[in-house]
Amino acid sequence: MDFAYRNGALCAEQVPLEEIARRFGTPCFVYSRAAIERQYRAFAQALARRTSLVAYSVKANSNLAVLALMARLGAGFDIVSGGELARVIAAGGDPRRVLFSGVGKTEAEIEQALQAGILCLNIESEAELERVDAVAARIGKRAPIALRVNPDIDARTHPYISTGLRQSKFGVPFASAERLYRAAAQRAHLEPVGIGCHIGSLLADPAPWIAAAERVIELAERITQAGIPLQHVDVGGGIGIRYRDEPQRTIEEFLSGALRALGERDEMLIVDPGRSIVGNAGVLLTRVEYVKPGSARNFVVVDAAMNDLMRPALYDAWHEVRQVREPQPGAATAVYDVVGPICESADFLARDRTLVAHAGELLALMSAGAYGMSMSSNYNSRPRSAEVMVDGASAHLVRRREEVRALFAGESIPTW
Ligand code: LLP
Repeated sequence: MDFAYRNGALCAEQVPLEEIARRFGTPCFVYSRAAIERQYRAFAQALARRTSLVAYSVKANSNLAVLALMARLGAGFDIVSGGELARVIAAGGDPRRVLFSGVGKTEAEIEQALQAGILCLNIESEAELERVDAVAARIGKRAPIALRVNPDIDARTHPYISTGLRQSKFGVPFASAERLYRAAAQRAHLEPVGIGCHIGSLLADPAPWIAAAERVIELAERITQAGIPLQHVDVGGGIGIRYRDEPQRTIEEFLSGALRALGERDEMLIVDPGRSIVGNAGVLLTRVEYVKPGSARNFVVVDAAMNDLMRPALYDAWHEVRQVREPQPGAATAVYDVVGPICESADFLARDRTLVAHAGELLALMSAGAYGMSMSSNYNSRPRSAEVMVDGASAHLVRRREEVRALFAGESIPTW
């Protein structure tokens, strides 16, 4: 397996995490190349029998090494900023396989995307449709567009990552979609090429995901009948993974529903998964600084913090904690909260975990490959972690640890 014990030592593929900590220090994100590839291939294989594109959602993990791996495997990319587009191009990704989502695209970002020749801009409002038309007219291009429609379906996930309900800021209302397609089709500088949706992230149950796909495909049918042919249907990302004991639903269960709904239609099927490709393929490696027993709670203070892995603080998310050196059977355990050094009570990585805790020991926060490093910050002037990609018996540093002086290199003191 990707992260398993060998002779009592937790390894990433064939490399002991202890060795990675020695070479690269902690905190450190460690990714398994084999795990990422396997997950990508699960998508590609499930869709192999029809024209399709797996557009990896860059926001989940945007390290260039991850993007380059995806590009080599033939993936497309789902992006949400000019910064992500620059990363995709720097990693060797093909802009013609890029979809650009997000409710707040600036004029500069729209221009950058059109100049790069991306596959499609996913339009999230009528105002954005106007803006894309104006930018395309100014630079003499025709903008390939899709509407991201809001199917008003409850994804039944954490409210912060649910995006498909009417009250959400995402997408255009289902009821206005047809009118907007007709309007877009009349503009000389807009070219409707597809339709898309995304109802939320970390979906445990395929049913709402498939229901959204069905609604969007029905709409695609109506739009085609109105004389506006579409080249693709993008059914979004959001497929959940197992962090703890969530029911394990397979990628095939989700995709077979979308394939069934698409039937004999000949549009290209696009999915934009992020977490399900990289989530379980990474861990955050951290070292225990102090063990702090208390009268109400016991704490293990580690060198990683909410600035490295924000998910527990933001969503109350659960990440498994594993001891990198497997404890001896019968060693004395206690129940601890695993916390970082940041001055916030929300700075916890895990709560109520039974551990054999010693200062200096290494712990691994599991399933940290998605929305870990990509959501990290410099709060408390903490330099961001190193990132390492393991490939069999080799460990490659894919991002060096940030240096403290880089944190304020762009700052200046006025001459008062
Ligand atoms: N497509 C669109 C349009 C999206 O907005 C997202 C994620 C995805 C695809 C990829 O979703 P995934 O397959 O990764 O679930 N920070 C949160 C997750 C936020 C997801 C935002 N949008 C977390 O740590 O749980």
